[in-house]
Amino acid sequence: MGCAVLELNDMEANMQTTLREILANRYAKCIDVSKRIRWDIDRDVIRGRTFDFGKKFLPDGLSRVDQLACLSGKERRLMSQIQGRTYANIFRLVERYIVAKVLEVSRGHCLGDQIALEALVRFSDEELKHQELFRRLEKMIAEGMPAGYAFRPDPDEIAKAVLRKSTWAVLALTCCIELFTLAHYRQSIEPDTELSELYKDVFLFHWKEESQHAILDELEWVRENGNLSAAQRDQAVTDLIELIAAVDGILTLQSTADVDYFLSACGRTFTAGDVETIRAQMLSAYRWQYIVSGVREPRFNEILGRMITPEQGARIAMALAPIVN
Ligand SMILES: [Fe+2]
Ligand SMILES: [Fe+2]
Repeated sequence: MGCAVLELNDMEANMQTTLREILANRYAKCIDVSKRIRWDIDRDVIRGRTFDFGKKFLPDGLSRVDQLACLSGKERRLMSQIQGRTYANIFRLVERYIVAKVLEVSRGHCLGDQIALEALVRFSDEELKHQELFRRLEKMIAEGMPAGYAFRPDPDEIAKAVLRKSTWAVLALTCCIELFTLAHYRQSIEPDTELSELYKDVFLFHWKEESQHAILDELEWVRENGNLSAAQRDQAVTDLIELIAAVDGILTLQSTADVDYFLSACGRTFTAGDVETIRAQMLSAYRWQYIVSGVREPRFNEILGRMITPEQGARIAMALAPIVN
C-alpha cells in the first residue's frame, strides 16, 4: 500500500516535471522566434515610404465598405482609409494596457523562471515599439487626409479602467485581441492586392511579433486560471463580460466620430436613410473587427472552454448576443 502511494507520488512528480519542461520550451521558443524576426520601424517597415491615398487601407473583409451601395468607389476608399486609421489607433490604445498587464504578470516570474521572464520582457518591449509605430502612422496618415478626424478614447483612461478588472479577464481579452490580429492579417489583409503597400506591410510586421504574443497570452492566462478558486473564476467571467461591454462602448463612440468625419470629408449630402445605414454599417463593421471575429476564433474558444463551466459559457454568450446579431 505504502509502495503504491509512493509510485503515485513519483508519477505525479514526473508529470509536473514534464509539464514544466513543455512550458519552459514554449517560452524559450517565443524568445527564439522573437530574436529571429525582430524588426525596426524605419529600416524594415516604413523604409522612407508614404501612404498611397489612391488605394484602400483596411480590406473589405474587415471594413465591409463593399456592403454600402449608397457610396461611390471613391467614397468607399475614403471610408476604408478612415477605418484603417482607426484600426491602427485601436491597437495603439489596447497596447497601452497590454504592456502594463504584461509587466505586472512578469513579476510572478522575476525570482523564478528567467526564460519566462525574458519572453515577457521582450513581449512588453515589442508592444512599446508597436505603440511608437502606430503613433508614427497616425501622423503620416493625418498629413494626407482632410482635417477633422478625432480618435476619441484616451489610452491611459481606458488602461486604468481595464486594469481594475481581474487578471484572468484582462488576459482573456488580450488573448482574444492577439488571436484576431493574426486572423485579420491572414484572412483579410494579406490576400487583398488592392491595399496601400505600406499599410499592408505595417500589419505584416505587426503580425510577425503578435504570433508570439498570442502564445504567451495563453500561457499566462492558463497559469492565472490555475491560481483561482471557483468563486474567483466566476467573478472573473463577470469581469470579462464587463470588459466586452466596455469595448462595445468604445466602438460606439469611435464609429460615431468616424461617420461624422466621413460625412464632412465626403463633401456631399446624403439622405437621412443613407446616413442611418452608414452609421449602422460602421458600428457593425467595428463590432466585427474588435469583438465578433475574436470571440469566434476557434483557439480562443478552445482555451476558454477548458476553463469555464457551461453556465458561465451561457452567461458570456447571452452578453454577446446583442453584439453578434
Ligand atoms: Fe502589438
Ligand atoms: Fe501583441
